[in-house]
Amino acid sequence: MTSQPGTPGNPLRVVIVGSGPSGFYAADFLQKQTDLTIEIDMLERLPTPYGLVRGGVAPDHPKIKSVTKVYDKIATSPGFRFYGNVTLGEDLTHDDLLRYYHAIIYAVGAQTDRQMGIPGEDLPGSHPATEFVGWYNAHPDFRDLTFDLNAERVAVIGNGNVAMDVARILASMRDELAKTDIADYALEALSRSRVREVYLLGRRGPAQAAFTNPELKEFGELEGADVVVTAEEAELDPLSSAAMVAGDDRMAERNVQTLLRFAAEGPAGKPRRIIMRFLVSPVEIIGTDRVEAIKIVKNELYQADDGSLRPRPTDQTEILPVDLVFRSIGYMGVALPGVPFDARKGVIPNAQGRVIDPSVPATVPGEYVVGWIKRGPSGIIGTNKPDSYETAGMLLEDARAGKLIEPAEPTREAFEAFIRRQQPEIVSFEDWELLNQAELANGAAVGRPRIKFSRVEDMLGVLAQHHEQAPQAGD
Ligand SMILES: Cc1cc2nc3c(=O)[nH]c(=O)nc-3n(C[C@H](O)[C@H](O)[C@H](O)COP(=O)(O)OP(=O)(O)OC[C@H]3O[C@@H](n4cnc5c(N)ncnc54)[C@H](O)[C@@H]3O)c2cc1C
Ligand SMILES: NC(=O)c1ccc[n+]([C@@H]2O[C@H](COP(=O)([O-])OP(=O)(O)OC[C@H]3O[C@@H](n4cnc5c(N)ncnc54)[C@H](OP(=O)(O)O)[C@@H]3O)[C@@H](O)[C@H]2O)c1
Repeated sequence: MTSQPGTPGNPLRVVIVGSGPSGFYAADFLQKQTDLTIEIDMLERLPTPYGLVRGGVAPDHPKIKSVTKVYDKIATSPGFRFYGNVTLGEDLTHDDLLRYYHAIIYAVGAQTDRQMGIPGEDLPGSHPATEFVGWYNAHPDFRDLTFDLNAERVAVIGNGNVAMDVARILASMRDELAKTDIADYALEALSRSRVREVYLLGRRGPAQAAFTNPELKEFGELEGADVVVTAEEAELDPLSSAAMVAGDDRMAERNVQTLLRFAAEGPAGKPRRIIMRFLVSPVEIIGTDRVEAIKIVKNELYQADDGSLRPRPTDQTEILPVDLVFRSIGYMGVALPGVPFDARKGVIPNAQGRVIDPSVPATVPGEYVVGWIKRGPSGIIGTNKPDSYETAGMLLEDARAGKLIEPAEPTREAFEAFIRRQQPEIVSFEDWELLNQAELANGAAVGRPRIKFSRVEDMLGVLAQHHEQAPQAGD
């Protein structure tokens, strides 16, 4: 009988699928264990790491992106290996993972968007925010999309921070965007944009908005856009006022104060306007061949059984003439072949991060989940740290109890040989560091912080050229 894995001669082999914040925090927790020898392999479908920190966080929020320095330290620690350009479900299967690892951690995030389910949602000119965000952030899946920025009026649906990002990017001037690492083609397209009015439509009131106060205040600092909120819509309804007095929601209080200030100040005559509307829901996107308008209904709030204030429609409707619609009502997880999935919630079912097979029902030995695919698409980067630590704690508990997978070939050499047959163009962390340097240099050449590569073939081309010039050890 072999010894329990976790010794130098028989390391505990863990694979983390996905290289966003949740994957890195899980690795961080495992690396902190001094009594176990753990080898961590991280698989990522893109050649680039960091998940939504690269492909989601708004380009004009560079400080937030500096969290990647923490991830770089994790990635360059002993025992860690990054396999970029490797997709679970395409380059290898769930069964393959069972052959090479004692434990699997799924950290794949939420790869698609939620739909509103209203007529006209699929008309040309109506898009999920997920696609626009991926496009302006140079995500290879979205870089070839086009958005009709000849549109003068745009509706952004939702009151979360993603909706705020989308509205702010649409309302920003070229100079504001050129200072950022926004994709070069997006900078050019947005520079020519004719957008004048961006409607931000929240289905509940100012006190229930999901956006945070720094993001709201940023609207007031835009060079070329006014924020327009009517005093009537910024004022709280009686139920929200009562909830505000009874509760202790500092963020909601600050948001309401900021909105009342915007309403009192009024527009300053800047060329663009962000028009914030509350207590309205879209009921139809109108148009023959493309979006021409959006029909909204005025909502009122009522107290639901759980005590929350929910919206319900009144009989008042309104038609806003808009040419472009972005729905920003949340991301959605996607199933991985061979892995249990809750299609309604868009998550891998789990108990504190241990994957559950609902058909048994029982936990699946050695399989774990972290981040947005564990708890759904909410929470800031920092939320993922305790969440991943919880899961990694369960993994270690199971490791010590001898309850992991018993793989046939638990060695790095065996996995390396296998995966290079499956995907000859693996991108290592050193390769990513080369791409990173190239992006920074390309940016510096034109006075921008970074010019991101947006095509996988371009990234692989740069790396192939580098490897030809500097052959690897053993070549
Ligand atoms: C538009 C947007 C802006 C945001 N801005 C901020 C912000 O400013 N500040 C903040 O604190 N938080 C922000 N967040 C939230 C933050 O990004 C998330 O909390 C965090 O990224 C979730 O981490 P994750 O690891 O679960 O998923 P992700 O970051 O999505 O990482 C998942 C990774 O898995 C990879 N993957 C998926 N499927 C496979 C597969 N089959 N095989 C291999 N790899 C796969 C993906 O390519 C991706 O790299 C933002 C979120 C969004 C959507
Ligand atoms: N700067 C940052 O820190 C930053 C930036 C971006 C994202 N993030 C984080 O990333 C996470 C995801 O953000 P998100 O904006 O995608 O999600 P979110 O915060 O959950 O917001 C979703 C919004 O969509 C609304 N909505 C849902 N269904 C709707 C429908 N059918 N019709 C109309 N509106 C609907 C919600 O309203 P209800 O509240 O009424 O349900 C809510 O306003 C959040 O935790 C966010 O804080 C952070």
